[in-house]
Formats: sequence, C-alpha cells, structure tokens
Amino acid sequence: MLDLKGKTVFITGGAEGIGYHIGHRLAQEGMNIMLSDIDPLVLDRAVKTLQQEGFKAEGVQCDVSIREDLESAAQKTIAVFGKVHMLINNAGVSVTGPQNRIRENDWRWVLDVNLMGVVYGTQVFVPLMQSHGEGGWLINVASMAGILGVSYGGPYCATKAAVVSLSEGWLTELAPSGIKVSVLCPAFVKSRIYDSMRNRQERYGGPIHFDDIVKKNPKLAVLKEPVVTGIDTEIVGHRVLEALSNEDFYIFTHPEMREIMDTRFSNMTQGFNQADASLVLDKPTPES
Ligand SMILES: NC(=O)c1ccc[n+]([C@@H]2O[C@H](COP(=O)([O-])OP(=O)(O)OC[C@H]3O[C@@H](n4cnc5c(N)ncnc54)[C@H](O)[C@@H]3O)[C@@H](O)[C@H]2O)c1
Repeated sequence: MLDLKGKTVFITGGAEGIGYHIGHRLAQEGMNIMLSDIDPLVLDRAVKTLQQEGFKAEGVQCDVSIREDLESAAQKTIAVFGKVHMLINNAGVSVTGPQNRIRENDWRWVLDVNLMGVVYGTQVFVPLMQSHGEGGWLINVASMAGILGVSYGGPYCATKAAVVSLSEGWLTELAPSGIKVSVLCPAFVKSRIYDSMRNRQERYGGPIHFDDIVKKNPKLAVLKEPVVTGIDTEIVGHRVLEALSNEDFYIFTHPEMREIMDTRFSNMTQGFNQADASLVLDKPTPES
C-alpha cells in the first residue's frame, strides 16, 4: 500500500496550477510539501494557504532554468525536512506560433525551462533520494503534446516529447535505486499556462501579459479558450495520487484523447509497412 505520510516532496513551478494542486493532494496524504517557483509572490500565498489548512509546507524561490537555483533549493529542502523522497518536475511554459516566426530566444526559453529544468531537477534531486536508500518517486510533467506534435506548438511539443523520452529511459535506469518514475501527460487543464510569458525572464525578452499580447493581436485570444475550459487542476491532483497507488508509468488524465496516441501508432505502422515494401532494403529471407 502506498504510504506517503511523513515523506517529503519537492515540486517545481508549484505556486499555482497543476503543481500546486498535486502538492495539495499529497499534503492530504501527510507528505511534507516543499513548493518552489520562479514567482515569489504567488509562491508565498500558496505556502501560506497550505499552512493555514494545517499542512506541513514551506517554499523556496527557484528558477528551474538555473541549476544553481535547484541546488540551493535542494539544500533548503534538506535543512527544513531532513530528506526528500519525491521530485515533481512540473514547471513548464509555452510559446505558440508558425515555425518560421518563433524567435530563437523563445526557443531557448522553452528549452531551458521545460527540458533543462527537468534535467537539472533530476540531476540535483535523484542523488539525494538515492543517498537515504528509502527509495522514492520522480514524476515528470509532460503533456499530450509530447505524444503527438501539434501545429504551431514547435518548442512546447519538442520539449514535452523529450520529457516523455527521458522518463522512459529513467524508468529502468532508476529502478535499481528504488526510484519509481512516472510521466504525466494531460491534455487541457484549467490554469494560467496560456499566460506563461508573465514569467519570461529578462534574458529571454522579459515578461509580457497575455492580455497585452491580445491587445496587439486580437486573433490570439483563441489560445486561452481550450485551457480555461479544460479539466480542473484538483482532478489532476486526485488522478496523480491514484496513478501513484497503481505504480503507473504513464499518467493520463483525458482518456478521450486516446485517438491522439492511436494516430501516432498508426502513422508509425504505416511507415513500417512502407519499409517492408521497400525495394532498396534487404529483406530477411524466409526460413525454409
Ligand atoms: N494547463 C494545461 O492545459 C497543461 C496541459 C498539459 C501539460 N501541462 C503542463 O503542466 C505544467 C504546469 O503548468 P500549469 O498548467 O499548471 O501552468 P501555470 O502557468 O498555471 O503554472 C506554471 C507554474 O510554473 C511556474 N514557472 C514558470 N516558469 C518557471 C521557471 N523558470 N522556474 C520555476 N517555475 C516556473 C509559474 O510561476 C507557475 O506557478 C507545465 O509543465 C505544463 O506544460 C499543462
């Protein structure tokens, strides 16, 4: 039986949205919650809310695109709670646009947060989980956009596909240490992801608010719609706990999206059929 009581989870991008609500659900299981986020004000509010509800929670400001931030956040986690047993690599941002219009700086931003943030988080926290020998959990937050690419979503889809792939590799790599790996792949969830640029660091161009983007280009207002009509973040928290109990690797939250996965599989099957029919490839000779 899954027993999380008294264990500690570190969550990146945990001040609001999906990360916060997974943390809230884990707090109900008796976990110590260390929320981290780039936004200190929202983080402070989130930590206070959890504490007022009687949960053991602390916070640390941390930009996942900076390895040193994760290192000092890990030190604080150990100083406060002694050990860490679970890492949720949740922080993520999105940029949308035609492939020839997305600025290199925005590519760098999304790569550094969504991909390198996961790499840094894992490199910093897995040794801490291995050091106490009690095992642990690593949950990477990818997306259905990591299962099948979406037009105009290049950097987001590429990084989420990379997170799925990393998770698949780490599943077997970390099993001998007793660290269970899962990858969460939601479709639309009601959050402020459409307003990701509110947190864009100066070195990538600085923050811009979604409302200001829409003022300049009203057509982009449609980007908000599928997110704000998505499922509630609380449901994702419940679903993650259910999947942890079942020791699931893939954590899906939108079963109606199975078609997306089937599309990828059938495209691949078609590609293999074409390879079978190829005139230039050597074919294994049938055994007599
Ligand atoms: N909302 C959706 O529809 C959806 C769908 C699939 C996957 N996801 C993924 O879920 C995760 C959480 O997103 P969300 O929907 O809750 O969005 P959100 O914008 O509500 O929350 C993201 C959090 O990450 C923080 N953050 C941003 N940049 C950061 C950085 N450099 N370092 C640390 N923290 C940073 C933000 O301050 C915010 O608190 C992301 O990885 C996102 O890609 C979201």
